[in-house]
Amino acid sequence: MASYHSQEQTLAQLPIPSAEEMAHSGKLIEVIVDKIARGNGSVPFSEYMECLLYTPGLGYYSAGLNKFGKQGDFVTAPEISPLFGRTIANQCQQVFDQGCETRILEFGAGSGKLCEQILSKLDNPVDYLILEISADLRLRQQTYLKEKLTFESFDRITWLDKLPQNFNGVIIANEVLDAMPVSLVKKQQQQWFELGVAFDDDRFNWCHFAEHSDAVSAIQSIEKDHGLLPDGYVTEVNLNYQPWLKSLSEIGNQMVLLIIDYGYEQAQYYHPERKRGTLICHYRHRVHDDTLILPGLQDVTASVDFDAVADAAIASGFEVAGLVTQSQFLLANGLLDEVGFNSTSEDTLAQLDISQQIKTLTLPDEMGEKFKVVGLVKNLDLDLPAFSMRR
Ligand SMILES: C[S@@+](CC[C@H](N)C(=O)[O-])C[C@H]1O[C@@H](n2cnc3c(N)ncnc32)[C@H](O)[C@@H]1O
Repeated sequence: MASYHSQEQTLAQLPIPSAEEMAHSGKLIEVIVDKIARGNGSVPFSEYMECLLYTPGLGYYSAGLNKFGKQGDFVTAPEISPLFGRTIANQCQQVFDQGCETRILEFGAGSGKLCEQILSKLDNPVDYLILEISADLRLRQQTYLKEKLTFESFDRITWLDKLPQNFNGVIIANEVLDAMPVSLVKKQQQQWFELGVAFDDDRFNWCHFAEHSDAVSAIQSIEKDHGLLPDGYVTEVNLNYQPWLKSLSEIGNQMVLLIIDYGYEQAQYYHPERKRGTLICHYRHRVHDDTLILPGLQDVTASVDFDAVADAAIASGFEVAGLVTQSQFLLANGLLDEVGFNSTSEDTLAQLDISQQIKTLTLPDEMGEKFKVVGLVKNLDLDLPAFSMRR
């Protein structure tokens, strides 16, 4: 949402993009301005966000910028520690041991590190499919994994352009749902409006649509369940969970889906005090909330509404095994047993490093409670001790 600060004030607090980056951003602005012109002067925010992140060759995830790790804009769990992926592999193994087909489908594989960590930990070779919508990230993943994995493991990875037709196995989505475009809504004089983006005076600006929309229906139904929200309240709804989960459910009969992301259950997400929603931008490890600046150069992301995910999952034929914090999930899946995998007991520096990684993954004020794991199951009778909280 628009920041309390002007676009200039926010820009002044951020590292200055290079001339090359500005030129890149300028090309994306042209594409979006053209889309706005064709949309009679505005587009819904969800379309604007889709363009920001996924315009082929120009969007944040589609272009060749370095996003992950210290040199990029943000750090995800597989970048922080190999223990993360090794522990997810333990969860996969537990599922495989109970009769699930030994295949993995990873959505949005980022730098490829999670895939490397999982394949290096599993005892037996598995088929590993990666569905990555960014052509640039796909190339990076291929280069990285070819270098890091044995020929045999690498050979079992397949990159897909679209969902496979038949898939039974484990599906993993780490920090994927937060990168799905959201719709923005605002309550004004007791009425909800969907927000859009226009372009005038050489910059993107906010506008709102008078017509009723699916996003407005969604927030009205949330308000009905959780109580009235105050005037001036701005928030997001994600209308992509349902079609995404339905499409996954349609590709197979027996599967487990692990969704790992930051977010809230609805009572906290749509708390009357969270008046400005959860949309944030990451630019070179600075966080701010002005989504209208630096198009294509910064990540734009929204927290996940875990109740909406669960409802969409049930409507799509999944059972919800549970929703637990990342910390609970990793500890229940043997995080601490993985500690010694790469170091000897005399290697003090490595041990310090590992203990710092564990703290980042599990402490409540780091990733431990902010990130949660949803387990969804289709047509399998499984014992999954990590998901103790049944819905
Ligand atoms: C925040 S990054 C996380 C990357 C990686 N999973 C990690 O943890 O480091 C989001 C990723 O999700 C991908 N993505 C978003 N929507 C997707 C979709 N519908 N299908 C496949 N990939 C998607 C993006 O291209 C990007 O690779």
